[in-house]
Amino acid sequence: MTQTRQMKLGAFLYPYGHHIAAWRDPAGPIDASINFPSYIELAKTAERGLFDLIFMADSVTVAGGDNESLRRLSYVAWIDPFTLLSGLAAVTSRIGLVCTATTTFDQPYLIARRFASLDLTSGGRAGWNLVTSSNPNEASNFGLDKHMATSERYERAFEFAQIVRGLWKSWDDDAFVRDREACVFSDPEKLHVLDHRGRFYKVRGPLNVARSPQGQPVMVQAGASEDGKNLAAETAEVVFTAQPTLNGAKEFYDDLKSRVSARNRDPDDLKIMPGFFITVGRSKDEAIEKYDRLQKLIHPEVGVKQLYNLTGFDFSGYPIDGPVPDVPPTKEGSSRTNLLVDMARRNGLTIRQLYERIAGGRGHYQVCGSPKDVADEMERWFVEGAADGFNVMAPVLPDGLNDFVDLVIPELQRRKLFRTEYSGRTLRDHLGLRMQ
Ligand SMILES: Cc1cc2nc3c(=O)[nH]c(=O)nc-3n(C[C@H](O)[C@H](O)[C@H](O)COP(=O)(O)O)c2cc1C
Repeated sequence: MTQTRQMKLGAFLYPYGHHIAAWRDPAGPIDASINFPSYIELAKTAERGLFDLIFMADSVTVAGGDNESLRRLSYVAWIDPFTLLSGLAAVTSRIGLVCTATTTFDQPYLIARRFASLDLTSGGRAGWNLVTSSNPNEASNFGLDKHMATSERYERAFEFAQIVRGLWKSWDDDAFVRDREACVFSDPEKLHVLDHRGRFYKVRGPLNVARSPQGQPVMVQAGASEDGKNLAAETAEVVFTAQPTLNGAKEFYDDLKSRVSARNRDPDDLKIMPGFFITVGRSKDEAIEKYDRLQKLIHPEVGVKQLYNLTGFDFSGYPIDGPVPDVPPTKEGSSRTNLLVDMARRNGLTIRQLYERIAGGRGHYQVCGSPKDVADEMERWFVEGAADGFNVMAPVLPDGLNDFVDLVIPELQRRKLFRTEYSGRTLRDHLGLRMQ
């Protein structure tokens, strides 16, 4: 039997890597978050691995919270990913370029224009990861005293997405006649004025950017709430998601695909790609050794802080190598708290051992093993209906991405689960998405 369905893969780049202590690993450059040549190297490696896309997250604030965590975290200052991807477009030729921009603090015309421009400069490889801003601290940079309520952020996002997609249809593909002799540059019949008037925005249009070889950029999203899933079902073509278990991932997959069908869209027009935090070695022992090396670099204050972020309970007054104390339920996260305390009790974990279990992958599914182990797990999720592909999260960069490309990609190819060459030129070609 021939197998036609193949995985989509994103290379989720993060300064230094995704492990919470990655920046302390001496294998990568010490200034990785602002080192443009090292980003170029990563982009080229991902393209060598035939990844569908590079993905970059973003926030419009210093992430990290209080001074104590700021002091020890690496992802507090980096390069604006849009600027970065514009540079990477020039040194790559096939790989998709997707980054994040917020509907809560940006303007639809500006986002439409920026991503349409990246789509042109990259030859049809751009994607926009729409977020409504998960970090409440962003509000204070935009004239607000507190973050907008989730429901309002999503109401704005629905309208925002509609405008951006409308603006991307301003010009027909053949609108530019460019007839020098007759002195006709464009055909006004092929120009469409949006003239949007909604609850939050008034945008006349049209956009002053032409369509790209893939028509318009790919719409990406990562919200998991009811509103988030409904917005994705209506507008997204790729969804990234953090799913810590296979069963949870299957439920999410079925739920989202049925919401897509309910809107008269083909479920295959939306690709679901959970984050996979992957530590791979030539053998399982080697992978475990790599993982343990990073785990040992988690500073206790950062680990304890992570526990606080997840449970709302401050463990800092308790001996770090002592047992996990009884934790009163908190309104923020009682189910998550119970889960962690139960895990600690069942396995006799100390506070340090507990944070070591959960801190590294930041809530994403974690795989650690040989190329075969990793490919088995990816295949299982893919075949059992939990994923159309994966957003690959290397614990530390550049080594983690090199390892994935050199060790796991050939194994996936051997199983015919992944391409052996790019067959198209645009991001839509790679993802199997129709032209919009
Ligand atoms: C893989 C992944 C990447 C994300 N990247 C960002 C990001 O760059 N910036 C951001 O503000 N939120 C990011 N998010 C958060 C979501 O977009 C969303 O804002 C968050 O899940 C809250 O929305 P929800 O309540 O609908 O889940 C990301 C989520 C996932 C799973």
